[in-house]
Amino acid sequence: MTHHSPRQPALSRRSQGLSGRVRVPGDKSISHRSLMFGGLASGDTRISGLLEGEDVLRTAEAMKAMGALIEQREGTWTVRGTGNGCLMEPAAPLDFGNAGTGVRLTMGLVGTYDMTTRFVGDPSLSKRPMGRVLDPLRRMGVQVPEAGPGDRLPITLKGPKHAVPVTYRVPMASAQVKSAVLLAALNTPGITTVIEPVMTRDHTEKMLQGFGAAIEVETDAEGSRQIRIEGQGKLQGQVIAVPGDPSSCAFPLVAALIVPGSDIVIENVLMNPTRTGLILTLQEMGAEIELLNRRSAGGEDVADLRIRSSELKGVTVPPERAPSMIDEYPVLAVAASFAEGETVMHGLEELRVKESDRLSAVAEGLKANDVDCTEGEASLSVRGRPDGKRLGGGTVATHLDHRIAMAFLVLGLATEKPVTIDDRSMIATSFPEFMDLMRGLGAEIE
Ligand code: S3P
Repeated sequence: MTHHSPRQPALSRRSQGLSGRVRVPGDKSISHRSLMFGGLASGDTRISGLLEGEDVLRTAEAMKAMGALIEQREGTWTVRGTGNGCLMEPAAPLDFGNAGTGVRLTMGLVGTYDMTTRFVGDPSLSKRPMGRVLDPLRRMGVQVPEAGPGDRLPITLKGPKHAVPVTYRVPMASAQVKSAVLLAALNTPGITTVIEPVMTRDHTEKMLQGFGAAIEVETDAEGSRQIRIEGQGKLQGQVIAVPGDPSSCAFPLVAALIVPGSDIVIENVLMNPTRTGLILTLQEMGAEIELLNRRSAGGEDVADLRIRSSELKGVTVPPERAPSMIDEYPVLAVAASFAEGETVMHGLEELRVKESDRLSAVAEGLKANDVDCTEGEASLSVRGRPDGKRLGGGTVATHLDHRIAMAFLVLGLATEKPVTIDDRSMIATSFPEFMDLMRGLGAEIE
């Protein structure tokens, strides 16, 4: 089990207009996958812009424990992979800390190997459901000799001699589950098919194609996607430049919108359409977000974003948009706290199984700071106060959740009274530079 240092509270207060040009760290989803696919491929993969956050470093350690050679020199990571099908049994349990993506994708990656692998994590990760990945793996022939109650960590997987290809319809909108099955298929003979009724982030499909996997995607008239992958082919190392993470960008972005007099630029942000739901929603709310210098880099759209403080108005966010902004609801709720009128967000059931129950953590944090809101089973309504008057003054329980910590530090930049969070240590999982970057823009955070 992961050791925990004592809590480190933090506080933010009403700030003067933010200004400056910044870059946010590399995309977390692409960073995990770069190390995994690089670690599996033949030859070298060179990665620049990798997110060096705790979650991603856990994935690097796991890949090393299974035979990949990984080193970092002057900002470039070099991964020498084992070759597809040639991962080795790790000598010790793989500890993924707080990282859901790391553990779920790796369970897929190694589940179909004829070896025994044990997975552990921190108290937050140990509460999260893993049955969503174990179910398809069991169908492929993987045994689960050890799992906590309700298919939770710690979990031990024992792979079959020869895995069985399946057709699997993903029952919830989850890129992690889709990816776990696709990665399990890499060591499975024949064709595995994943049906995804609602499109989620497509980094696994795109990147596997780049590494040379035999993978095809077909989308039907209703938008349901059928992804077919042929296992046991060769993967070849790649050169990857990881663009800035739109989910990390969301924090300085919303901060600039709500702190009057702000004008900032965030450079080199990933604009993959499966990730841009927040920008669309904020634009509907009246946000001044300009996309500058739009370009394509390494097969992905990227842009620089210019953000000026804006008068926001409440909107209704439709449930079908949730997959493209699933990690951004905490910070959208913060923007909504300063919007005129009510913002209603639907389709939030998956928020209950993130690093924390994010739906209740957000509602509790808003209430602790006198923001008027209502938590539904799978919805959240926030009634804003554009001047921030009488808001703030509360302490937010972050529940080992980095995005709860960052979202509420952003809230305090525009509330009348300061906002305290009980622990900022988890911010290091996805955005180690957060405090310094925000202070550099003029945010009063201590
Ligand atoms: C991710 C998928 C999403 C997201 C997570 C990263 C990925 O999780 O919340 O931060 O990289 O595949 P779900 O698959 O649980 O929706």
